[in-house]
This record gives sequence, C-alpha cells and structure tokens, in this order.
Amino acid sequence: MDQVAKRVPIVYNNVMGYESTVTSPVNIAVVKYWGKRNSELILPTNSSLSCTLSQDHLNTKTSIRASPSYTSDRLWLNGFEEDLYASARLTNCIRELRRLRKEKENELSSSDLASPENLEAAEHHVPPLSEWCIHVASENNFPTAAGLASSASGYAALVQALSNLYDLSISLTQLSMIARLGSGSACRSVYGGFVEWQAGILPSGEDSYAVSVAPETHWPTLQALILVVSDKKKSTPSTSGMSTTVKTSELFPIRISEVVPKRIIQMKEAILQRDFTKFALLTMKESNQFHAVCLDTYPPIFYMNDISRAIIKLVDLFNSQVDEITKKPKGIRVAYTFDAGPNAVIYAEKDVIKEFIELVMYFFPRGTGQTSNSFFPDPFGLLKS
Ligand code: ADP
Ligand code: DP6
Ligand code: CO
Repeated sequence: MDQVAKRVPIVYNNVMGYESTVTSPVNIAVVKYWGKRNSELILPTNSSLSCTLSQDHLNTKTSIRASPSYTSDRLWLNGFEEDLYASARLTNCIRELRRLRKEKENELSSSDLASPENLEAAEHHVPPLSEWCIHVASENNFPTAAGLASSASGYAALVQALSNLYDLSISLTQLSMIARLGSGSACRSVYGGFVEWQAGILPSGEDSYAVSVAPETHWPTLQALILVVSDKKKSTPSTSGMSTTVKTSELFPIRISEVVPKRIIQMKEAILQRDFTKFALLTMKESNQFHAVCLDTYPPIFYMNDISRAIIKLVDLFNSQVDEITKKPKGIRVAYTFDAGPNAVIYAEKDVIKEFIELVMYFFPRGTGQTSNSFFPDPFGLLKS
C-alpha cells in the first residue's frame, strides 16, 4: 500500500475535516478461494494462496474525506455514485473501523483530555470524528468486476484509507480481517509478495486472516502478465457464483477435503524453493480445477470463453517447445491462471516473458478480444485444432 501522508486536514464549507488517500494492489490466487462457510462474516471453506502484483500497474486508488458538515456516508466508484447503505459489505467495514475509532476516542478522553484532537473538537463544538459522515471516492485503473480482482484491491484500499483517516494503529492482521468483511480476496491484498489466507476454524472468524508466506523480494524474477480478453462486467459475480457452487457441485466437497489442503502445502514449497516448474504446474492444474468446479455447478458457470481457451492452448504450445540444437524439451516456462472471468494472468520468469509476449502478439494481433472495438478472428485456427 502506498500512502503519501496518513491523513491531511482539509477545510470544507469553512469547517475543518480530514482526508486520506491510499493506493492498493490486486492479488491473483494460485490456490483459489471459492466457497464460504459463513457469508455474513465472509469465512471461506478453504485456505487460499496468492501473489500480490505490483501496484504500479493494476491498482485501486481510494480517497476518503470526513467532515462534520457531511450529512450522509456516500461512495463514488469510478466516478459514479453507488448506494453505500445498500451494501452490507461496505457498511460492515465502515462500522468496524468506526467502532475502533470510538474506542480510541474513549481512551483519549479518559487518559488525555488535553490532546490536540479533543481540544480542537471542544473548541469548535463538533462531535468526535467517529460521528462524522464520510465521502469515499474510489477508482480502479483496470476493468471492474471482470475477474481481475477489483474487489480485492477495492476493499483493501477502503479499509486502509479509513484506518489512516481515523489515525488507528491497528495490526495488519486486524486490517486483513476487516478487509475480509468487504470481500474475501481483499484480506490478502493487505500484504505484498506471496500471501496465504488461512481459512481458520472458529465460527467468530477471529482466526481467518492473511499471513505473509514470502515478501516480493523473495522471487524478484517472477513476473505476471495480464491478458485482457474482455473488460465487460461478468454475468455471474464471484459472490453468487461460489454460493451456487457450494450448494450444487458434487466435485466441490472432494476438492475441499482432498485437493486444496495438499496443494497449499505443495504451493508453499514451490514458492519457498523458487521452483518454477512445480509452481507453474500447480497453478495451471488449480485454475483448471476451479473452472471444472464452476462447470459442475448447476446451473453451470462459464467464466472462460473461446479466447481464454485459445490462450491455454498457446501456453501449452509454448511449454511443449523443443530446443532446435539439443532436441531437448525446453520445459514448463509459462503458467496461466483464470479467476472468475475470461481474462488470463500469465506467470513466468523475467527472461521468458518477452519471448512469450512476442508469441501472443503474433497469434492475437491488436484488436483481438472483446474489449471495446475489438474482435477475435482466430487467424491461426488455435480454436480449431
Ligand atoms: P472482481 O473479479 O473484479 O473482483 P467481483 O464480482 O468479485 O469481481 O467484485 C466486483 C465488485 O466489487 C464490484 O461490483 C463492487 O461492488 C466491488 N468493488 C470493485 N471495485 C471496488 C472499489 N474500488 N471500491 C469498492 N468496491 C469495489
Ligand atoms: C476466483 O473475493 O471476489 O478470484 O468474498 O464474495 O467478495 P467475495 O468473493 P471474491 O472471490 C474471489 C474468487 C477468485 C479466487 C481468489 O481470489 O482466491
Ligand atoms: Co472479487
């Protein structure tokens, strides 16, 4: 997370207030979270593991202002106002942070009546900061609700910005748990690098939060490439999709009991050993199983489209290459993963990325895809063979 200053004083309608701005990164899971055991507290059916991407590229920037002259809490997402009170997730996150601010104010008033904040408030006859309304303005610099984890960076930015605005000194664990109340995947965006969301077992959710597996610097040559196939909003949001899966898929219980626990262990090993082949195979198999479980849901959920499948073929083609001189296989050098949407995330080591991009540009010339003004001509018959 990137912060210029934790919070700055502002004047609005001749009344003092505060503003805080935060930029947060997205994270892309390599062991997927898909299924809740408690949908109010957003407690998952399984632990998950992800890589937080650099926020220089895909990010959410959120500014929050608090002023005693505001009359309601409001939120603008990508320039359009949303009904904040209609979202239990938004109100849950805000309520929790307000509660912590209130606690801090109570401590302040009992221990330090002469604190600058108390004196300032008393002088202006205004209620404490926890009682002021807030205005939130958030922008994603990438497609929202298209399977590129906008809910993750979005809620991570919201809770960090509000925590700064309220001048709270809470731990990353606590911040992760509050972000989780907004969107499960958001609890992982609180950390950079390689992150595990430990599912926990307690009904209260007190043990369900993200922990760092390794910092970004642990594997600096690992890179992520985003192939935007479609920037359209998905027809099945993650929340409703996973709820139908839990209710209807017969493969799902097997995935949760037999597959995921082993994969979490193996994936952590692959990351800690910087073993790309192991990491790549697990990542691709995990993506495949997640989409298989979506297909096993009734009614079935199709997140990938023809272009997504063509990208899988291209990765397979790339990974099947043989060295012309030695005649030896070049090995698994690229991995794909797809979240709840058609867009691909490619993981590869730095020295391979350029070669792969050249292949992508050759097979998918500019204009390919379902972003505005584009089409998918399939000139090389990737879909047919
Ligand atoms: P994605 O794959 O992009 O995460 P989801 O279906 O999980 O898609 O979540 C999309 C929803 O997340 C949006 O409809 C919106 O409610 C919420 N969201 C996305 N970006 C933000 C943001 N910057 N601030 C607050 N909420 C956001
Ligand atoms: C496929 O975190 O978006 O991206 O908790 O209901 O907001 P809610 O769902 P969300 O689900 C993410 C699903 C996924 C896999 C993952 O990120 O682990
Ligand atoms: Co999401």
